[in-house]
Amino acid sequence: MSTLFATKPIDRLLADAGQDGRHGLRRSLGPINLISLGIGAIIGAGIFVFTGTAAAQFAGPAIVISFLLAGAGCAFAGLCYAEFASLIPIAGSAYTYGYATLGELVAWIIGWDLILEYAFGAAGVAAGWSGNLQSLLQDYGYHLPPALMATPGTPLVLWHGRWEILGSVQPAILAAGVDPAVLPHATGAFDLLACLAIAFVTAILVLGIRESANLNTGIVAVKVGTVLIFIAVVGVFLLRHPGVAIRNWHPFIPPNAGAFGDYGWSGIGRGAAVIFFAYIGFDAVSTAAQEARNPQRDMPVGILGSLAICTVLYLLMGALLTGVVKYTQLNVAAPVALGIDATGIAWGSLVVKIGTFAGLGTTMLVMLMGQSRVLFTMSRDGLLPAWCGRVHPRFRTPWISSIVVGLFVGLFAALVPIGVLGQLTNIGTLLAFIIVCAGVWVLRVRRPDLPRAFRTPWVPFVPIAGIVISLLLMLSLPIDTWLRLFAWLAIGLVVYWQYGRWHSRVRGEAERSVT
Ligand code: ALA
Repeated sequence: MSTLFATKPIDRLLADAGQDGRHGLRRSLGPINLISLGIGAIIGAGIFVFTGTAAAQFAGPAIVISFLLAGAGCAFAGLCYAEFASLIPIAGSAYTYGYATLGELVAWIIGWDLILEYAFGAAGVAAGWSGNLQSLLQDYGYHLPPALMATPGTPLVLWHGRWEILGSVQPAILAAGVDPAVLPHATGAFDLLACLAIAFVTAILVLGIRESANLNTGIVAVKVGTVLIFIAVVGVFLLRHPGVAIRNWHPFIPPNAGAFGDYGWSGIGRGAAVIFFAYIGFDAVSTAAQEARNPQRDMPVGILGSLAICTVLYLLMGALLTGVVKYTQLNVAAPVALGIDATGIAWGSLVVKIGTFAGLGTTMLVMLMGQSRVLFTMSRDGLLPAWCGRVHPRFRTPWISSIVVGLFVGLFAALVPIGVLGQLTNIGTLLAFIIVCAGVWVLRVRRPDLPRAFRTPWVPFVPIAGIVISLLLMLSLPIDTWLRLFAWLAIGLVVYWQYGRWHSRVRGEAERSVT
């Protein structure tokens, strides 16, 4: 029984990572690559899609406070990730840290939980990408058959010559004095573009990390450029028309509408728990530790640098978006484009939609890369079958796990609603944050002697603050999301019981040394 909590010795972890040889991953990433990898994962559907939906449904203009709250939680957790990533620079992220500190069972739970973060997260971004692209195509009069535009059961309606999700356009239809029931209707069955996006990104990943990282750096520039254009255009507009912002920001915290999370302070909490999605990704940098040229020095720079840059951009975006458009109108597939449209600049919406199109591509790329790296590491430890860790002889990528992950994520993206995917991603990631924060603290007590290239400041205050904020955000999510988390973890325990515990390398060694 005690072997369930066997830890993987840190020296052994480092030795494993050193066994690169011919079958290992290629070490090709420098600090700029890592920061850009982080930004590539961080800026995505969260800021381009969820900011609008969360402001409209939960927080109103006070979404800015939600961003501050979620950003603070990420900063504390980021400091903990940075210490681990500099100490244990090995592919696998929180899974590996958990193995080193809290034992195999906890490591398995985190590894399984990380599937929620990376795989479901990539599926959520793919769904956001699809909504944005469909909006762009419809601007030019093209649309797919409506059944292929949305997940099963989503009601769609033909409004002003465009197929739209009924829930998004209903306020506008009612405001125009039209009964939605008289408009042509359809029902979604399969989000085709979301599925195709994942297939494309999977193909890039199978072909190799260096190619992926270079592509990533280029597209990250486009993505940050898009955000900066939005900030500049809308910022100048609101400076010239301060009355618009003052009107839209009032009331800054809309009064609670009766239920938990429906505006008011609980709405700010739920808003934070939803737009937390926008920050996810800085930890994905740590999954690339085995591919960094100098992980000890560069991992903390990559994690904290990308997080800091994004936090500043998000606060500005949240304030400007709710300043230029009334929050009630922001529950749409491309809210940022709607915001720039409101300034009257004709090219703005097109630029933002093209930027979002390219930008969300890199987010999917980094998340799927993180996912296949975690599976790779788990299979090397014997907790998953050996084929998950097989590296392609020519491309030197974990190609089989990339393809299997791609298949599942493509189906999730096409079949599960974006809101469900986003919240499940968030609760899974927050759980991983809590375990990582606890792990830093545990390891400081148990192994104070280890050389730490980056030390989390103010331990245990920072880990405790990370745990408390993450827990508060988890508690702000609906009960359904909790139930899905428990169901997912229960499935994971069955898989561990049936496979991992019989094949674990660490446990096998621990049991041999006992007998
Ligand atoms: N942070 C990433 C996004 O916003 C997951 O899409």
